[in-house]
Amino acid sequence: MKMLLTGARVIDPGQKIDAIMDVMLADGKICQTGVDLLKSVKSKDSAKTKVIDLSGMVLTPGLIDMHTHLREPGQEYKETVASGAKAAVAGGFTSIACMPNTDPINDNRSITEFIKRKALEADMANVYPIGAISKDSAGIKLAEFWDMKEAGAIAFSDDGKPVMDAALMRHAMEYAWSLSLPVISHCEDTNLSAGGQMNEGYYSTILGLRGIPVIAEEAMIARDILIAEFTKTSVHIAHVSTEGSVRLIRAAKKRGLKITAETAPHYFTLTDEALQTYNTSLKVNPPLRSAADIAAINEGLADGTLDAIVTDHAPHARTDKELEFEYAANGISGLETSLGLSLRLVREGVLTLPELIAKMSLNPARILNLPKGNLETGADADITVIDLQLPWTVDVHTFYSKGKNSPFQGWEMQGKAILTIVGGEIKYADPRLNL
Ligand code: DOR
Ligand code: ZN
Repeated sequence: MKMLLTGARVIDPGQKIDAIMDVMLADGKICQTGVDLLKSVKSKDSAKTKVIDLSGMVLTPGLIDMHTHLREPGQEYKETVASGAKAAVAGGFTSIACMPNTDPINDNRSITEFIKRKALEADMANVYPIGAISKDSAGIKLAEFWDMKEAGAIAFSDDGKPVMDAALMRHAMEYAWSLSLPVISHCEDTNLSAGGQMNEGYYSTILGLRGIPVIAEEAMIARDILIAEFTKTSVHIAHVSTEGSVRLIRAAKKRGLKITAETAPHYFTLTDEALQTYNTSLKVNPPLRSAADIAAINEGLADGTLDAIVTDHAPHARTDKELEFEYAANGISGLETSLGLSLRLVREGVLTLPELIAKMSLNPARILNLPKGNLETGADADITVIDLQLPWTVDVHTFYSKGKNSPFQGWEMQGKAILTIVGGEIKYADPRLNL
């Protein structure tokens, strides 16, 4: 079955395309892009081609979330591979990379294979497992990188925890480099962050909650930059939340080091001021920071210091969150609000729409070495269609994710993914499209 998507504003940052065009899909691939493709269909095999009119919509390479937490194996009550993959396509993501902090940790071939199998059964978004850096993410011994790579792991990370031992991190970067896979670093010095519940500052003082200082993140980023430089390898910095972190990464890039970095929507949308409600859906690690940090993150996004926007989708159950602040789990369920929140950056003039799409598709594909993130002829037909105007209200009860833990409940949004195509197949379509 062929599919012809007509009349949309096609944005493909990889090919520097931003124009009204038609896109033809066949056999799971993009087979043609151009103007007036409808004519050729009419004359030839019109019965065999599904034509979808997307006038007024934006069509982009499928969005890629390179930092998702699925909770299978072990915590299926929070999220399964299937529920996370469904939430992904509903949020406009055709591919997600999932962090290894499941139970047990994905530190070996059999769990990597298990996740891949669950993803195939779910048949929704592409799911790329990230293997652990250390066995059980305990930070003591390296995990089996080679085995996990063979089983389908596309990067290594102990995300959720830092690798506190610098020698271990050095070996991780060297070994991963030899396998041509990236290391993704959760940067947090746990001696500095110990016992912290929120950003250290004015609000932690008046709320009486133990603070996590910005230097807990920044000291570790500085260390990882030094290790990458010393070993002539690379490192990807996860969930950047502070002004100082942006400054360190910018300087490292300027010196030509192979550093890449990401942030997540909550870090450019909310500050620690919001925690005055003690709402545990705001509890996340790293914590929400200050308005000055948001300004720096926006600058880092605009000047390319921050390459990617990720969800850091961290689904939790009510029993993990409806607790005293101190006992509540860290994390925000982000797959279904990420695009809506990120589109605000375009309206605020922080990023152009093609720049935003690059940070949510092309750049993650490049960092993870995935043959995705563009609309070239012959590429996988992974496509996201966005209605930029569509107003909607966040309602966690309608999330496909099992994780209803969102501080954005009730927020008014503008712009939403209305059609998500993976490998040429429609995996999510907004009912308003009447498909
Ligand atoms: O808020 C967070 N949630 N930060 C992390 O580093 C881990 C994540 C999780 O797994 O819930
Ligand atoms: Zn994470």
